[in-house]
Amino acid sequence: MSKAKVLVLNGPNLDRLDLRDSSIYGTMNFDQLSSFIGESATSLGLEVEVRQSNSESEIITWLHEAADNRNPVIFNPAAFTHYSYAIRDAAAMLTAPLIEVHLSNPLAREEFRHTSVISGVSHGTIGGFGPDSYRLALIAMKELI
Ligand code: DQA
Repeated sequence: MSKAKVLVLNGPNLDRLDLRDSSIYGTMNFDQLSSFIGESATSLGLEVEVRQSNSESEIITWLHEAADNRNPVIFNPAAFTHYSYAIRDAAAMLTAPLIEVHLSNPLAREEFRHTSVISGVSHGTIGGFGPDSYRLALIAMKELI
């Protein structure tokens, strides 16, 4: 198994999960979600680093870093999913697998969430399982790397 560190990148407003609609996003705050991701990774024998940013620019810089270091990436782009061509272009340059994740199922929500500009440059997408979306992505990533 590769020892490559998996970066788990999270986009805007996910740092305020506890203030968002709990019927959509559940009840974990971001620190709890990060711990859950870390524990899931440890039980799978994977090394992860979890990051969150509200800045498109910072996320692009992180994707460049992941490309340069050949890190696999699990990515919840949050609202950037639906319109950021700059993030898509950065994701397209990744050199290891990318898995897109969502807590909710965007396809079951408002129409503007039905478009993902990231899916086309991802290995696959997992959404609708709450925090388990990340755990399922880690399981899938373990098979890929
Ligand atoms: C989200 C879904 C997006 O549509 C939304 O903008 C988010 C979170 C999710 O994890 O379900 O902020 O990516």
